[in-house]
Amino acid sequence: MRNVRDIRLLENIPVLVRAAMNVPIKDGRIANEYRLRRALPTIRFLAERGARVILIGHIGEQGTETLAPVAEALGNMIPNVSFSEEIIGTRVRSAIRDLSPGHILVLENLRRNVGEQANDRAFARELAALGDVFVQDCFDTCHRAHASIVGIPEILPSYAGFLLEEEVRELTKALAPKHPALAVIGGAKFMTKEPVITKLLSIYDQVFVGGAIANDFLKASGKEVGKSFVSNTDTDTIKKILANPKLVLPIDSVIKNEKILDSGSGTKALLDDLAKNAKTIIWNGPLGNCENGFCDGTNAFAQAVANSNAHSIVGGGDTIAAIEDLGLLPKFSFVSTGGGAMLDFLAHCTLPGIKALN
Ligand code: 3PG
Repeated sequence: MRNVRDIRLLENIPVLVRAAMNVPIKDGRIANEYRLRRALPTIRFLAERGARVILIGHIGEQGTETLAPVAEALGNMIPNVSFSEEIIGTRVRSAIRDLSPGHILVLENLRRNVGEQANDRAFARELAALGDVFVQDCFDTCHRAHASIVGIPEILPSYAGFLLEEEVRELTKALAPKHPALAVIGGAKFMTKEPVITKLLSIYDQVFVGGAIANDFLKASGKEVGKSFVSNTDTDTIKKILANPKLVLPIDSVIKNEKILDSGSGTKALLDDLAKNAKTIIWNGPLGNCENGFCDGTNAFAQAVANSNAHSIVGGGDTIAAIEDLGLLPKFSFVSTGGGAMLDFLAHCTLPGIKALN
């Protein structure tokens, strides 16, 4: 992949950057700035070389949220950041014309325009007209075929930012792990996780499945799951995975109102042992219902990984937030900014947004 260092001329050039700005907001404030901190090296690199930096990105799923607090937070991290309430049009174009070299303009949430998620060509053309070159640095959204992910690179000369480049390098390494290698996949939605579970079973020595997706396996193996969340999915695929001896499932759980909500003490001890023996650990997704306070299993495993000598890779918004609350993020070898993007990259070794750059 060509990266930002390969852009010949930057001084006074308008550079359009798809940046990782989808951060969680609570009561109008950013609840976790992790992605923004990781977006800074590329932005700084371009600004320090005198580019006129135009940041585009999304926040929230539906396009109802605003990037205004993100622009404000970025302004507290680096100088000369301003915000545009519009995404395309004459006012945006004139704001970009007036931008001084090294200054940064954040445009409003791309998902406010229906053309973004529909990968509308006219919208992609309007966006592309804002810059002379395009930098893709939003790894966490590279699994989506949206206008700012796959549309713009068809029009503008395009480069990878430092964050995207690092994600690709580290996750590619994770596909050739040192053994014994342990993979831990949690969270919900079996169908979105099935490809990565199948892929990891072919490479890793043990694949532990926890969180809500474990309920699907427990149910398919004839265990009682009461009123627990299940995906009600294709049982043939589940049974095929169940037959793989590398698959490891929770051996006990915390149960309330007939619902499985967290790992039990036996499962925590089992994971602790697996982590101690592993040379590589990859982890994505919480191991219990963290959102509603059932985070003990997730926290215990974070501590187990931090105590281990393994090369450790972790990703997923909820997982990272839990680890950051414990102050354990620096103990991990690599922290991916991707949730679904990390899983899709591991399953397919590339993503639509990366293919578009090539
Ligand atoms: C993420 O948080 O996983 C990415 O920013 C992509 O967001 P999306 O799932 O709303 O497309």
